[in-house]
Amino acid sequence: MLKKVLTAATAAVLIGSLAACGGEDSVASSEAGGSSDTITMGFAQVGAESGWRTANTKSIQESAKAAGIELKFSDAQQKQENQIKAIRSYIQQKVDVIAFSPVVETGWDSVLQEAKRAKIPVILTDRAVDSEDETLYETFIGSDFVEEGKKAGEWLVQEVGTAETNVVELQGTTGAAPANDRRDGFEEAVSGSPNIKVIASQTGDFTRSGGKEVMEAFLKSNPDIDVVYAHNDDMGLGAIEAIEAAGKVPGQDIKIITVDAVKDGMQALADGKINFIVECSPLLGDQLMDAAQKVLAGEEVEKRIVTEETTFTQEQAVEALPTRKY
Ligand code: AHR
Repeated sequence: MLKKVLTAATAAVLIGSLAACGGEDSVASSEAGGSSDTITMGFAQVGAESGWRTANTKSIQESAKAAGIELKFSDAQQKQENQIKAIRSYIQQKVDVIAFSPVVETGWDSVLQEAKRAKIPVILTDRAVDSEDETLYETFIGSDFVEEGKKAGEWLVQEVGTAETNVVELQGTTGAAPANDRRDGFEEAVSGSPNIKVIASQTGDFTRSGGKEVMEAFLKSNPDIDVVYAHNDDMGLGAIEAIEAAGKVPGQDIKIITVDAVKDGMQALADGKINFIVECSPLLGDQLMDAAQKVLAGEEVEKRIVTEETTFTQEQAVEALPTRKY
């Protein structure tokens, strides 16, 4: 089933469908007309929880099509058990390569060992797994989430100086790499500033509705919130709704820092409702397809491929918005 050679003919890609891999997973696949040279990739996506995720899925589907890679795609609806089912199904189907973005960090060793026994290489994209056995995957392509958290904290330290500052934190999905790392990076950056206190911290599951709900509760129990640190734009946008409903002005009465820099977040930054955004790029598709082709051709691939990203102030958001791709 190993089909290494890619030809221009395999680039003709048709949209098809694939049997669902877990629960109500919606599955879309691109099929390349059955050429024996075509690489088949099984991709187990986290879900569709945020604007970032939608852009990431689009990037993967478009890049697979451009590379002539047959993509079997499953949406785990933010549930680890669905991702494990999808990976097992890809193993059964004898795909050439499996890629996935693990919803949480732990609990992957046995299914990854099954893939290894079946001699199917695995590529991690976007999020990491917490495993001592690095032979279970070929490479991990994605952002440095600790660095993102640090950038958020460093901006806050600069912004508030020595002023007493109460921060509430809207965390990502419990146990997910970006939630753990963005929390840790932020804590490290503000650790030398005793005037900055994280007074409440709770998961909003990376969704807009989750961010809104948690922020409503924070506002009820904490009268003196100065800053919201949201682990993604969507939760920050949900917090804006809650702050406005409470009669306060987001960006002024309560400052907001988020991560991602998707269009909706950038618009809120340009409008002055968010104060600072740390970029996390979802455009991982090209790097993923390139790595898959190299792995299957027996070429060397770096064990860790870090995504390049920047940060945005209000002025920078105004400038970047017209050409923002996602
Ligand atoms: O893993 C990347 C994170 O997942 C993004 O920052 C967030 O928006 C998404 O849900």
